[in-house]
Amino acid sequence: MLRVDRLDVERGGARVLHAVDLHVGDGEVVALIGSNGAGKTTLLRTVCGLLAPTQGEVTVGGRSVVGVPAFELARRGIRYVPAERRLFPALSVRDNLALGAYPARPTRDRHELVFGLFPRLRERRSQVVGTMSGGEQQMVAIGRALMSSPRLLLLDEPTTGLAPALAEEAYAVIARLRDAGGLTVLLAEQQVHLALEVAARAYVLEGGTVTMDGPSGSLRDEPGVRRAYLGFA
Ligand SMILES: Nc1ncnc2c1ncn2[C@@H]1O[C@H](COP(=O)(O)OP(=O)(O)OP(=O)(O)O)[C@@H](O)[C@H]1O
Ligand SMILES: [Mg+2]
Repeated sequence: MLRVDRLDVERGGARVLHAVDLHVGDGEVVALIGSNGAGKTTLLRTVCGLLAPTQGEVTVGGRSVVGVPAFELARRGIRYVPAERRLFPALSVRDNLALGAYPARPTRDRHELVFGLFPRLRERRSQVVGTMSGGEQQMVAIGRALMSSPRLLLLDEPTTGLAPALAEEAYAVIARLRDAGGLTVLLAEQQVHLALEVAARAYVLEGGTVTMDGPSGSLRDEPGVRRAYLGFA
């Protein structure tokens, strides 16, 4: 579904990603782990067309995304959920969700799917989003992306600002999406224990390059991963 080949991206004149190779299969959930400044957001923003690479290729479903504007990629089903969520705080839950379907019209089926995944959003569908808790806003952000039936969902640190219990709840929803099938997810995360639970495979990004990758189970046992990301000595 997603292929990234020898990708270089510069920001502010400095090279932020170098020779990154990565792929995500159809229906797969893959994690991108790495500490602050490793380049996770840069990679996600390049895949969804918000940044242009200086070298390399990115394809989704066999078609290049390089040079294609972000709104066109959104129409092709590539949806990015930024860590800061970018919701419309003065609008209700229902209206925020409806805007996620744009340019298509929001259907009742899609609303039902999102409300089925997040029952709390159904209860609060008329509430103005700016008055909701961080965890509830995260549900709206993911729900909004799902309103368009995306083929590739890019989630940037979905646990940002969430207490541990809510972070686990967010990941329980991602696991439900995974089990429901039909959706391909690349997610950036610093809460590595959670990411490795939900993702089948992961890539470790350090200083803009992939230093390790493999099935989540084997990465969890890697001494380098345990020391740097899982808090084991
Ligand atoms: N507009 C910019 N100008 C210059 N440097 C930038 C710009 N945006 C990002 N960078 C640099 O690029 C590097 C990668 O940033 P990026 O946001 O991709 O990291 P990240 O892995 O998402 O980090 P975090 O976990 O903190 O979100 C950092 O060193 C950052 O300072
Ligand atoms: Mg980031």
